[in-house]
Amino acid sequence: MHRSVAARYLSDVENSKGVTKVPFFDLRRQYLPLREDILSGIAALCDQQNFILGTQVEELEQKIAALVGTTCGIGTSSGTDAQLMILMSLGIGPGDAVLTTPFTFFSTAGCIARVGATPIFIDIDPNTFALSPARLEEFLVKRCVSTSTGLKTNDGKRICAVIPIHLFGLGADMDSIMEVAAHWNLPVIEDAAQAIGARYPTRDGVRSAGAVGVAGFFSFYPTKNLGAFGDAGMMVTNDSALAQNLRVLRNHGMDPKYYHRQIGGNFRLDALQAMVLLKKLPHLGAWSQRRWEIAQEYREALADLSPDLLLPVEPYRESCGSAGHIFHQFVIRTKHRDALRANLHEVGIGTEIYYPLALHQQDCFRDLGYRKGEFPEAERAASECLALPIFPELTQEEISLVTGAIRTFFEKKHV
Ligand SMILES: Cc1ncc(COP(=O)(O)O)c(C=O)c1O
Repeated sequence: MHRSVAARYLSDVENSKGVTKVPFFDLRRQYLPLREDILSGIAALCDQQNFILGTQVEELEQKIAALVGTTCGIGTSSGTDAQLMILMSLGIGPGDAVLTTPFTFFSTAGCIARVGATPIFIDIDPNTFALSPARLEEFLVKRCVSTSTGLKTNDGKRICAVIPIHLFGLGADMDSIMEVAAHWNLPVIEDAAQAIGARYPTRDGVRSAGAVGVAGFFSFYPTKNLGAFGDAGMMVTNDSALAQNLRVLRNHGMDPKYYHRQIGGNFRLDALQAMVLLKKLPHLGAWSQRRWEIAQEYREALADLSPDLLLPVEPYRESCGSAGHIFHQFVIRTKHRDALRANLHEVGIGTEIYYPLALHQQDCFRDLGYRKGEFPEAERAASECLALPIFPELTQEEISLVTGAIRTFFEKKHV
């Protein structure tokens, strides 16, 4: 580690004592040990002056595809742009509808609306926070009609795709979702933005998040398990024709140069971001393993606070071990969420709420006509969920501070 930078970091930590004892995340701790390696990579790129796509992007695409177990990886400017392009590439647009959950980051539904289609929400499974296969089937059976031009809603919108989200680093129940989707002939796009390297069991064996649907995508937003120095994303698929089209769309739909049969955009991944990600990628497995170990420590220290406090589930632990949940977030549930959060803030512990308002209740989706109470599990999750600090460099002392403060809160009956 570079001495002066390390000293400055430690003095920052010292100065912040009494204010923040445990930050929600601290990217500098990950960066400092890699500093020399990453800066030498940036220097080499600056010497070359090749910044758009190129060899670093191609190498990253191959390595992510290999990690996930797909034949193709296509780097892009963000997870959001990845999803947008997949929807565009599947020809989804006005008059169409896409099924997803109301309990996720905004971009999932935002992209559906941006291509002119309608997001239709399906409630979550309260244990995994992911799309409930039972609710999905119920919607398709009770609220849709099969027509000669495909499956339609009662008001005539063509149902075009299903987007499950592997939220917080845990895979959705893909076997059941794929079975329902296959029955109705619907493509499944996996939002694996938060789940790079997460595994789940399927009837064809253990698979990686993103590898089962027609396409999947990841976000390399800086705080993700694998984070860039800015925005970046990756699409993965086994469909080489789809991959080829995504590559064309990523660059203004241009093929060959300056000839455009379709309208794409500038959705390219920068060589600089790809280089940073290549430097970090070899550490991803160890980082996610460490997150899982921290999760086990939280779990052990807090287990007896149930039912006041509920811990995240690990349904794939037996089949997938620690890769069954990569703990992008460690999200607890409690009816006393807001009081607990305020109390943790007072004692200097950072937390975050993912997500405080379900998507069907957002102002921008008012026109969709949903009512409060329509998705009870998503709404309950939005009022009860609290994410605790979890990052690989969290110290033992910090873990104890977090668990100690939570125990004190419940024992002192702040609730
Ligand atoms: C579930 C989910 N989907 C999509 C995205 C969008 O990714 P990006 O921020 O890279 O655009 C995110 C980002 O946080 C996300 O958490």
